[in-house]
Amino acid sequence: MQPENNQPWEFDATPSGTLIPKMRQSFEVYGVLILRNFVSPYVCEALKSRMSEILADFKTRNRITDIFSIQTNNHIKDRYFLNSTGDIGFFFEEEAFDKDGKLTIDLELSLNKVSHALHDKDPVFEEFSYHPKIKSLLVSLGYRQPQLVQSMYIFKQPHIGGIVGYHQDATYLYTEPMPPIGLWFALEDATIENGCLWGIPGQHNEPLRVRFKREGTELRHQVIDATPWNEAKAVPLPATKGSLVILHGYFPHGSYSNRSLLSRHAYTLHAIEASSRYSPDNWLQRPKEFPFRMM
Ligand code: FE2
Repeated sequence: MQPENNQPWEFDATPSGTLIPKMRQSFEVYGVLILRNFVSPYVCEALKSRMSEILADFKTRNRITDIFSIQTNNHIKDRYFLNSTGDIGFFFEEEAFDKDGKLTIDLELSLNKVSHALHDKDPVFEEFSYHPKIKSLLVSLGYRQPQLVQSMYIFKQPHIGGIVGYHQDATYLYTEPMPPIGLWFALEDATIENGCLWGIPGQHNEPLRVRFKREGTELRHQVIDATPWNEAKAVPLPATKGSLVILHGYFPHGSYSNRSLLSRHAYTLHAIEASSRYSPDNWLQRPKEFPFRMM
């Protein structure tokens, strides 16, 4: 399914990436924007093919039994997750392994995501992430000194791509006074059938519901407001290949499972304003010797 042209949060990207006033107004009202053709098909393919190389390398360096133990031992899993803040971590779909720890499908089709420092650890993703066009976009949204804090390559695999419950990204990356912002690049068409994003336009003005905190080496959800999201008001946010979906840090969004035959690859970045306070108990903390970088 192609995006409808008449959604008030959907526009053609400007060549420089800068938002024009009607785009900014729309983002203020809805908390979400979809910019078609922000990334060229060629660059989408270059990022996909770089990820194929990263996976091929991962496959030669790791045994499946080790991967399985990372996935199933909660203590090791949390440590691996925390270490990925300054590294490239590999996270699998829950349905990818059978009870004996064997992958039920090819490794390339088993991954949920590769994250969280691709933008600082891999030269191809780094060049893309720190491109002046992305900085121009963020500056036009009021981020005077944008810093990238997190990157994720999300696969949403055919058949087994799992659900992502409604959430606000500020749950994971709490900053004040400027909230964090999510940039979601569709590297393939994202449709209702293959598990596109859904969101609740206008509800970014609601307070933060949950914080996800690091306490020492422990991770904890702190519920601030238990009011459930009104999913009946959610709308699909289909995005054609090359589109950029911009998500306000308080915009409630999620996605449903992918039971289709097609994958739905996306690359996401989260940025913050360097002059805003980055909460010291956010789960994502970088080692001192590897700080967040200005764009
Ligand atoms: Fe999110």
